[in-house]
Amino acid sequence: MKLVIAATGASGTIYLQRLLMQIDATAHEVHLVMSGHAKQVAAQELDEFTVPPGVMQQGENNLNVPYVSGSARFDGMVVVPCSMATLGRIASGSGETALLRAADVFLKERRKLIIVPRETPWSLVHARNVATLLEAGAVVLPAIPSFYSRPQSVADVADTVVWRILDQLGLPSARAFRWKDAAGDTEQDRR
Ligand SMILES: Cc1cc2nc3c(=O)[nH]c(=O)nc-3n(C[C@H](O)[C@H](O)[C@H](O)COP(=O)(O)O)c2cc1C
Repeated sequence: MKLVIAATGASGTIYLQRLLMQIDATAHEVHLVMSGHAKQVAAQELDEFTVPPGVMQQGENNLNVPYVSGSARFDGMVVVPCSMATLGRIASGSGETALLRAADVFLKERRKLIIVPRETPWSLVHARNVATLLEAGAVVLPAIPSFYSRPQSVADVADTVVWRILDQLGLPSARAFRWKDAAGDTEQDRR
């Protein structure tokens, strides 16, 4: 697969880090593009942000990359975490940076674009921008963890979101907790 992983200045660098760790960049072509604010937030939130071997990182203003053109065939793009600022820019059709242009290309080419916003609460502006992206064909997958897998660490909590992103990419994690798979019948079923 050929993938673009993009990050912006929303809280949640751990989602980006955990996603990159769970995609085999030797088996897939993985491009990483981070906004300036994403780098700032990463420095705030993690002791060390690591780009795994094989992942190709490009600057957000570098338009000399394949994924800003519809002629280059890519399979999926994830914006994780996605700020409401970038979400609004994508919804408006802005293509000013490589990150924004790539999202615009994925929408126009009807390729999989997965937006992982992290903001709370939402204004009506946020909700309308999300609706616009849904209408344009994006998958909006909010960074909202689940707890029925009984996560034991912050990384486990983050993985409940990362597993849903991997499912959407068609790269399901063998570690993903799936309802009823792990424990068999639930207590309620047995009653
Ligand atoms: C520590 C920190 C955390 C932030 N968290 C969020 C957030 O969770 N969601 C959001 O939409 N913006 C958040 N912001 C604001 C964005 O970084 C800001 O809107 C920025 O302009 C986004 O730029 P970008 O989308 O180009 O990365 C945060 C900013 C800082 C400094």
